[in-house]
Amino acid sequence: MRAILDRERARGLDAFAAAASIEDLEAAAVAILGRKSALGEVQRALGGLEEQERRDLGKLVNETRQELTDARDARRVALDEQAEAGLLAADAVDLSLPGRRAPAGSAHPLTLVEREIVEVFLRLGFRVAEGPEIEDDWHNFQALNIPPDHPARTMRDTLYVSIPGHPELLLRTETSAVQIRTMQSQPPPVYIVAPGRVYRRETADATHLPVFTQVEALVVDEGITFADLKGTLEAMVNGLFGGRRRIRFTPSYFPFVEPGAQIGVTCFRCDGVGCQTCGNGWIELLGAGMVHPNVLENCGYDSERYTGFAFGLGVERVALLQYSIPDMRSLIDGDVRFLEQFGAR
Ligand code: FA5
Repeated sequence: MRAILDRERARGLDAFAAAASIEDLEAAAVAILGRKSALGEVQRALGGLEEQERRDLGKLVNETRQELTDARDARRVALDEQAEAGLLAADAVDLSLPGRRAPAGSAHPLTLVEREIVEVFLRLGFRVAEGPEIEDDWHNFQALNIPPDHPARTMRDTLYVSIPGHPELLLRTETSAVQIRTMQSQPPPVYIVAPGRVYRRETADATHLPVFTQVEALVVDEGITFADLKGTLEAMVNGLFGGRRRIRFTPSYFPFVEPGAQIGVTCFRCDGVGCQTCGNGWIELLGAGMVHPNVLENCGYDSERYTGFAFGLGVERVALLQYSIPDMRSLIDGDVRFLEQFGAR
């Protein structure tokens, strides 16, 4: 029995020291100290011994059990400390690592293009003017030489705003209303650009949106001619496209100008041949013309003394050309993969 006790002490001390985890240690403790262990058997056999022997051996069994229990407890404390240290190490912050940058956003391509257009005009000495997106009938139509029964009203599918007591309110169909607001607020000369959103009841396609952006320009001064309009537009198109696009003037009708023109540039995809994006090789960029004398008079300007030109440019169309975007709808889809390609310039 003494030999068994010696063997079990050695086996237990070895097993506890070798336990690599709390689970290993518990399993070893059950094998060495449990009821079915060799130590347990010796303990049970004590009853059959004579008294002196039982006392001596009982003492030895208790000492052995105590020694093994202490060894197991010490090992458990050590393993607990080890586990705690491992957790702390995993949580440790390495201050020498480079920081994680928050991803930087960038301006929307339409904002970039609008800024670029406005900058061309600021360099030419224009200032920026603004007007409301909810307009009244007078500014959006009547002052622009479009009286209530004028057939030109059917050229635009206008969206009206339902506000009780204000039947004349609508979402502006073009930025031309800013011409009127500007002339009402100051005497000539006028050199302004007015970027802003406009609304039409239209179906979206590759080159049309129901909500889009225009940049209006208005110049009123003594001696302004169509040549000034042409020169300004050529300066703008060259400033934006760097001579890569050809431009064409086509006669066109707008009630608030006389004469009027549409200005188109060659398509970026087919270079004037005709494709799915443009149809006939040209992308219409803007409407323009010499300010109608009636419009000047409606704003209190002397149409005998002053002349002027105006135009309204589609910003989305410029964006298509600048970035070779085949479908305008991608500009408003909100797809981050598309938008990420336009880092701030
Ligand atoms: C006008 O809106 C006139 N106010 C322009 C003008 C101003 C003429 C001053 C004379 C004097 P128009 O409807 O053609 O004209 O639109 C002007 C430009 O806006 C177009 O050439 C095109 O570039 C853009 N545009 C028109 N409709 C849409 C649309 N649905 N989606 C995107 N761009 C459009």
